[in-house]
Amino acid sequence: MLKFNNDFSKENIGQEILFKGWVSRVRDLGGLLFIDLRDRSGIIQVVVKPENPFYELAETLRSEYVIEVVGKIIERENKNLKIKNGDIEVELDSLKLLNKAEDLPFDLNNTTALEDTRLKYRYLDIRREEIKNNLILRHKVTSIIRNYLNSLEFLEIETPILTKSTPEGARDYLVPSRVQKGEFYALPQSPQLFKQLLMVGGIERYYQIAKCFRDEDLRADRQPEFTQLDMELSFITEKDIMDVTEGLFKQLFKELLKVDVTDSFDKITYHQAIDLYGSDKPDLRFGMIIKDLKEVFEDTKFELFKVKNETFNCLVIEENISRKKQDELTEFVNRYGLEKLYFLKYETGQFTGSLVKNLDEKELSLLEEKLILTKDATIIIAKDSYKIVKKALGALRLKLGKEFDLIEKGFKPLWVVNFPLLEYDEDAKRYVACHHPFTSPLQTNIEYLDKPEECLAKAYDFVINGYEVGGGSIRISDSELQEKMFKTLGFRKKETEEKFGFLIEAFKYGVPPHGGIAFGLERIVMIFAGTENIRDVIAFPKTASATCLMTDAPNKVSDEQLKELKISIKS
Ligand code: AMO
Repeated sequence: MLKFNNDFSKENIGQEILFKGWVSRVRDLGGLLFIDLRDRSGIIQVVVKPENPFYELAETLRSEYVIEVVGKIIERENKNLKIKNGDIEVELDSLKLLNKAEDLPFDLNNTTALEDTRLKYRYLDIRREEIKNNLILRHKVTSIIRNYLNSLEFLEIETPILTKSTPEGARDYLVPSRVQKGEFYALPQSPQLFKQLLMVGGIERYYQIAKCFRDEDLRADRQPEFTQLDMELSFITEKDIMDVTEGLFKQLFKELLKVDVTDSFDKITYHQAIDLYGSDKPDLRFGMIIKDLKEVFEDTKFELFKVKNETFNCLVIEENISRKKQDELTEFVNRYGLEKLYFLKYETGQFTGSLVKNLDEKELSLLEEKLILTKDATIIIAKDSYKIVKKALGALRLKLGKEFDLIEKGFKPLWVVNFPLLEYDEDAKRYVACHHPFTSPLQTNIEYLDKPEECLAKAYDFVINGYEVGGGSIRISDSELQEKMFKTLGFRKKETEEKFGFLIEAFKYGVPPHGGIAFGLERIVMIFAGTENIRDVIAFPKTASATCLMTDAPNKVSDEQLKELKISIKS
């Protein structure tokens, strides 16, 4: 097979080699033609002298023509040691034009091309270093995953794509059945139930690089069609799953970044995460935790700072926040339902700002002590319900972290554990599972579920740099407890039977204690690639409105197709 450009080096000087690839550009330097010949691995420079019989053909070459070159590797006179192969070049012996190319719809060297144009011509975008390198990285990530899990005797097993609704809670993508008229398959939101059935089947350690489909509102880190590294294990505890995960990520750090991570990853509870960072996926690359002020102003006479049942919290930033900026920040938190922010300044050991005159000495010194102020700072204060204050200050913390460049480089992996088991859905007027209905409560006695709002789950999320990279749980393996769970969720017996009957049936025949986790493969690659746009790590992604600009999917289908499926479209 043909070797890649980057397989050659000074060692090969004097050798006659066959190259194939694309013309990246042609330069004419005083009669000498320099062709940058690009293949997947990179560029090699080909020189054509005027007396060369192929000179005329070489002169006709344009960017992105596909060519074949035979030539001798020689040492470059003008070396460019900053680039790979900058010390060698190829002296052309023969040249063949394999294919011409029209002018490209955008310049591959100009990264300011509109993303829509790049997505319409994604195959050209993939020729660009950035996207190509991300795809190479993605391949490396999946290879490392496979090697690591294979070495721990996991089995890679595929599960169906045409299947039944799974319990992840987003909207399903449905596929009509032609044979069973009026019936539908659902594309899997995850392989959740199948992987549990593999445990009933005695597989014990399963993984899959699995395609998942969720019809939900898209964000920068969400796609309707994405890939999970999905795992399930039998006869394990939460700690075993965390150990496998930590081992895997340490391997990724080692192989991709040449970094040896030896420490265990940090672990905090869901409630601590919300309390301190206002988020269940905190970015620990910077501090600025949310601090409570209730004690400080317990006896205050200042009406605005008097608290009854509200939450009274603040953020401290060692920056001077201008009036204009204060207004902008207030406008920002309004989006999270928080109406007002109060600002105090701390300058050369003194509190300043229009509110200070309302506070007495004792309060101010208590405040100084509580916030451990050492440098000039601005204290940003919020008072409202727990939910609103945490959400708003959590979002504000991230905004300030980014804007004031407080985020350190590097990676901060973190486990968030003890999630709530259930939450009350005001619209549905019933409890819904925070993770899914098969997640084990933290305590497995039946009575524990009698107070649903207080129940915690044996569920854990894996977070890196503020991204929820993965999530999983220990599953319920006791049928009585599962039944109580369904009841707590307000499922009627018939509904449970219809939805999950096959799983309940399977659990009658000897189910091992089991649990698992799934990671967003794209999010892993995004973190290692250093991009915040999920589309950058997918070969053929969808837009924010879930369309493919290249193929035009989704699109209309023929009347015949609809007729066969007995489907009519209402306008
Ligand atoms: P969960 O729903 O938390 O758990 O999903 C696991 C991980 O998948 C990624 N992810 C996504 N990535 C891109 N686009 C999306 N639309 C998207 N949705 C989710 C996230 C998330 O952490 N079956 C359970 C896992 C288990 O219990 O074992 C599940 O799917 O990184």
